[in-house]
Amino acid sequence: MYGFRLPKDFLIGTANSAFQSEGAWDRDGKSLSIMEYYGRKYAGTYGPHFTMEEGAAMGKVPFGQDENARGCFFYDHYEEYIEDMRKTGQNTYRMSLAWPRIIPNGVGPVNQAAIDHYNKVINKLLECGITPFVDLYHWDLPQCLQDKGGFANPSFPEWFEAYAKVCFEAFGDRVKMWSTFNESQISIYNGYSVGTFPPFIKNHAVFLQAAHYNLLAHFRAVRLYKSMSLGGKIGAVNCIPAIMPATMTPQDYNAAELRKDSYFGWWTQPMMEGTYPQKVLRECPDFAAAMPPHYQQDLDQYFEKMDFIGINYYIGNRTAHDPNSLLRSTPVASFYSAPGQRFAPYPAGLFDVVQYIGDRYNNVEMYITENGCALPNINDQEKECDDPERITYLREHLRMVCRLIKAGYNLKGYYYWNDADSHEELDGFGLRFGMTWVNHETGERIWKKSRYYFSEICKTKLVN
Ligand code: NOJ
Repeated sequence: MYGFRLPKDFLIGTANSAFQSEGAWDRDGKSLSIMEYYGRKYAGTYGPHFTMEEGAAMGKVPFGQDENARGCFFYDHYEEYIEDMRKTGQNTYRMSLAWPRIIPNGVGPVNQAAIDHYNKVINKLLECGITPFVDLYHWDLPQCLQDKGGFANPSFPEWFEAYAKVCFEAFGDRVKMWSTFNESQISIYNGYSVGTFPPFIKNHAVFLQAAHYNLLAHFRAVRLYKSMSLGGKIGAVNCIPAIMPATMTPQDYNAAELRKDSYFGWWTQPMMEGTYPQKVLRECPDFAAAMPPHYQQDLDQYFEKMDFIGINYYIGNRTAHDPNSLLRSTPVASFYSAPGQRFAPYPAGLFDVVQYIGDRYNNVEMYITENGCALPNINDQEKECDDPERITYLREHLRMVCRLIKAGYNLKGYYYWNDADSHEELDGFGLRFGMTWVNHETGERIWKKSRYYFSEICKTKLVN
């Protein structure tokens, strides 16, 4: 029969993170996270490194003051949200656990109220026939650990392993899909090198150190998980744009290769094969010169292969040669984007990234852990819940998923980002990605048309 069909056992659902959805940031023993700390510190500005004009030119909205106290009110209304997921017909949901809720001091005593809360969420998902996919870390480092240097502190891997152990022991009997870190490309690269994400550090040597301890923490959690024989799978979620050369010149080709290796490859390559991308170390002297001592011995000692890769795919990125930049490359305007447009959809790029990772890493098991359509929250245009752009977005990306599976790629699941309009990273409520519209004052929720469309796909496994 003609048509696009997903396999019967394909995991299909929605995603959200604790920080962006829960709200209740100071309730039941939770401590402050790095996101809440900086959100407050820079409330009303674009952060420490941008003027209001620069932020506006990048399409960013100023930090909100108390928005993270709300998210989409998931903490209090998880039951209704999960009922909606059940009605949607999705068979999975990707969520994260808040470290500052579970271990408020970062290390040490466990907050039983948090364990009780997440038990209720996980049990409710299971009751509704929804497989939980759980991220240990999605943005919200306890601020008390950031005060000690965060990821750049050599003790970070130990802190993280201790936290992971608490989570595996508490939830591992029921959670069978785990991920260590979400998008280190943002929290570490943007957070420590570019300075556009908490903790807003701009220091290349500190970035390389933070990335290294982040990787060692990942390996330690993967090794621990495997040693516990809980019968599930563990991976990591990476931000993987489709990176293409800006022109056909050899210089731009090389620049695009360097950007792949230094951006997402800086994590995927060590995670899959236990080595840093050699091309970057050879061709970008600033990388080689600032590497942490004994980095390869560390990788040799701790490397542990994960079971799958999570791919967050949003955009295409055209890259040009730039001899003056650290990476010898710079992104230029992407294909099909309007000037200044963020998150310009580029469905064909989904094929490219899965193909790239699958071909490079022996057709490893892959999940699209995020893919989502961002619409600006101007005059609350989405209030009508009529979102044809998002329907087209879903259709075109999910057709790409069908093509990839037909082509033999080991793609096992797809998560739309996000389940409901939530707090968007540093943009507060300035962008809406949700398939459920949320009134962030009252908590009212309404399904957008895209959710009805998605529901048809979940129930029939057809994308037509
Ligand atoms: C990826 C991040 O994991 C998620 O937290 C964020 O909201 C989306 N990108 C959209 O920016």
